[in-house]
Amino acid sequence: MTIKTVLRMGDPILLQPATEVLQFDTPALHALVQDMQDTMTHMNGAGIAAPQIGVSLRVVIFGVGSNPRYPDAEQVPYTVLINPTLHPVGDAQEDGWEGCLSVPGMRGVVPRYQRLHYTGFDQYGNPIDRLVSGFHARVVQHECDHLDGILYPMRIQDLSNFGFTDVLFPNQDIQDD
Ligand code: NI
Repeated sequence: MTIKTVLRMGDPILLQPATEVLQFDTPALHALVQDMQDTMTHMNGAGIAAPQIGVSLRVVIFGVGSNPRYPDAEQVPYTVLINPTLHPVGDAQEDGWEGCLSVPGMRGVVPRYQRLHYTGFDQYGNPIDRLVSGFHARVVQHECDHLDGILYPMRIQDLSNFGFTDVLFPNQDIQDD
């Protein structure tokens, strides 16, 4: 169990394109995934990308379980996604609020493709191939942006929709990512 320090916006590693994973099912890859999982759980995040803990490899994990406080929130299965490819299905985009462990305490409205076909591999090298929409599609687009050095504030179109979480949403207890 290793909780890593999450790099914050301003760190050059977050702006760097990450490198493909060449070997699956290795002790090093399993340790990386475990560290990412421990860190994401500790920070109460919906997802995390390897560059956020200082490892510039194309590995993301994400997942949103049921939360009694947010019965209407869409669930996303816990997923380890390596060397992902993303293909939007159609041109439709929708706006939604996002946060990021690397931009703590803030939220912004970001347009994302509504429907997404994505592929990749898990840590054992098993292929992943999914057609998703809505919040699941948003989470994947956000996490995979990290692999190309893109943080969500770079995608905000109207900066009046960017601010501190506790100011934007007073009286709400919102998780930090
Ligand atoms: Ni993020």
